[in-house]
Amino acid sequence: MLAAYAATQSETDPLSGLVVGDRPAPEAPAGWSVVDVRTAGLNHHDVWSLRGVGLPADRLPMILGCDAAGTDADGNEVIVHSVVPSDGWRGDETLDPRRTLLSELHQGTMAEQVMVPTANLVPKPAGMSWETAACLSTAWLTAYRMLFTNSGVQPGGTVLVQGAGGGVATALIQLGRAAGLRMWATSRDAARADRALEIGADRVFGSGERLPERVDAVMETVGAATWSHSVNSLQPGGTIVIAGATSGYDPRKGELNKIFFKQLKVIGSTMGTRDELAQLARFVQAAGIDPVIDSVLPLDKARDGFAKMVDGDVFGKVVFTLH
Ligand SMILES: NC(=O)c1ccc[n+]([C@@H]2O[C@H](COP(=O)([O-])OP(=O)(O)OC[C@H]3O[C@@H](n4cnc5c(N)ncnc54)[C@H](OP(=O)(O)O)[C@@H]3O)[C@@H](O)[C@H]2O)c1
Repeated sequence: MLAAYAATQSETDPLSGLVVGDRPAPEAPAGWSVVDVRTAGLNHHDVWSLRGVGLPADRLPMILGCDAAGTDADGNEVIVHSVVPSDGWRGDETLDPRRTLLSELHQGTMAEQVMVPTANLVPKPAGMSWETAACLSTAWLTAYRMLFTNSGVQPGGTVLVQGAGGGVATALIQLGRAAGLRMWATSRDAARADRALEIGADRVFGSGERLPERVDAVMETVGAATWSHSVNSLQPGGTIVIAGATSGYDPRKGELNKIFFKQLKVIGSTMGTRDELAQLARFVQAAGIDPVIDSVLPLDKARDGFAKMVDGDVFGKVVFTLH
């Protein structure tokens, strides 16, 4: 079957290891299902895998992709939940220390078929487009948990999103707007700042720019480049929810003094549960949210989508189509 997979890895030239070609089709063991993939979403996770982060080289070749929507063997339209708990795990799967995402241990979603635990299938709401459904499993689920499970912000509160153009960032802006939050964002790029206003940001600032007032919570996925600004932008008692560090893990200043003096909360957040994914899908449908999609490409053009993400040139999600 056709698949986009990591054949080799390179920290500096991630595209060099990406191959779009033939891989064996999956055969599901008991308790697992094979999904015929209609659409698969691209995430920064896939670029990290090609760079050798989070995917050991001895697991190559590995089909990439955490997001997918398609049909199961009974013809049900489903969204694939990407967090696979270890055998016997009970409770919140994001807290299982041995959990993996699809494409880390088990083959990923950028293929004609993907195999997942049957419990990881979430019904696709009737009427939701395949492109929308492909956006939800990773970036949107992460944004949902950051905002609604972990930030503690109430409707009417103000939230700063570091970065405007990314998959998680655009999801945060659209979800927060739909939930009645005042969403502010930063961006390095004027055009992406304008787009953020169009999709519901109340205000957008240059990366690192001083804000006119302090906010209730900051959504952080940029990491080292924005960490000090995140700490400085919070009002006392505010919350930073951190789910990523695209620009690096080691900020120049840890800002520990400000964190305790202002009694800030720093909360780590990773993906979400299957139930949160089902709630997210229902919320997106009920609120009429149209996830921002940068581009829709057939899977055989996957390299173009990956190149855009490596170049930092995306606004919203990149979606690959199959069938
Ligand atoms: N913990 C989890 O479960 C989880 C889930 C999903 C994603 N993540 C992580 O979250 C991060 C974002 O993921 P994504 O899929 O949304 O990636 P993406 O689409 O590539 O997003 C990149 C974002 O980062 C901003 N950015 C990048 N470098 C920057 C810099 N040097 N200074 C300021 N802003 C910068 C960009 O904003 P502008 O271009 O507008 O400035 C853009 O909003 C990744 O590190 C990813 O691994 C974690």
